[in-house]
Amino acid sequence: MSQSATNLRALGEPAKGADRRAQPVRPAIRIADLQKTFGKLVAIDRVSIDIEPGEFFVIVGPSGCGKTTLLRILAGLETATAGSIEIDTPAGSDRPANSMVFQGESIFPWMTVWNNAAYGLRMRDAPAAVIKERVGHYLDATGLTRFAGYYPHQLSGGMKQRVSIARAFANDPEILLMDEPFSALDAQNKVLLQEELLRIWGEQTKTVVFITHSVDEAVFLGDRILVMTAQPGRVKSLVPVPLPRPRNIIELQKAPEFGELVHSIWSGLRDEVQRAREQENTEVAHDTKEKTP
Ligand SMILES: Nc1ncnc2c1ncn2[C@@H]1O[C@H](COP(=O)(O)OP(=O)(O)O)[C@@H](O)[C@H]1O
Ligand SMILES: [Mg+2]
Repeated sequence: MSQSATNLRALGEPAKGADRRAQPVRPAIRIADLQKTFGKLVAIDRVSIDIEPGEFFVIVGPSGCGKTTLLRILAGLETATAGSIEIDTPAGSDRPANSMVFQGESIFPWMTVWNNAAYGLRMRDAPAAVIKERVGHYLDATGLTRFAGYYPHQLSGGMKQRVSIARAFANDPEILLMDEPFSALDAQNKVLLQEELLRIWGEQTKTVVFITHSVDEAVFLGDRILVMTAQPGRVKSLVPVPLPRPRNIIELQKAPEFGELVHSIWSGLRDEVQRAREQENTEVAHDTKEKTP
């Protein structure tokens, strides 16, 4: 176990394994009756969920159903209109509450891979030795050690996304928030990064909230999947993923249990995607009518 992982346990990180999940634990995140409106638009409507410490929690739902808004509220980038969120931070912890990995490119083009990965730690004035150890560890874990001195324009899209992931993990947040981080990647790089993410998460058992539009990805990665309704975004269902870990994504695709889960989630989601489309069409029709003299 690495030095940083040892320190994390000392800071009250839950132990890994089945017994952690069997015991009643204080949720890492408690979302209670959350509502978010933008003017007349109800983006999120009465969402209540408890997310366990160390849980890999995935959110799927049609476009515009409020996934990003929910994540931004968790990150403190947006305020709730009503209801509450609580994030359990161990007493005395000096770790940041969260780190967010955004969709698409979110690393600084003028910084090297190393400096990008070290950014969060530097902002927190972490000691140089800690920065060296953590950044070194996560560049290694994401296969970027050789590219530490490169600039983003010298990297492929998949490598840039790995830099974002290395930065988020090196920052050592209580909670990792990921908004469709792999959606822009090609299929091969996506599988590699999904596996890397699972491996790094397995090392640390960090609480992850992960948004995706891919049901396959949700099932590959998640402990539990929140399916949201079309706007206003509500909880349609919460689906546990009882597939054993560690998961081999290629093997999993052949497993009948995998196919059954994907199928059952899709059947619920299909109606919502359909409804979201109808809403979009109505809005377009409405706009066109208003603009016609
Ligand atoms: N800052 C904002 N101002 C006004 N409307 C917003 C704002 N942010 C999001 N919305 C609206 O809220 C709804 C949910 O958006 P979002 O959370 O981005 O959905 P998703 O990520 O599920 O696609 C959409 O209708 C979107 O247009
Ligand atoms: Mg979004």
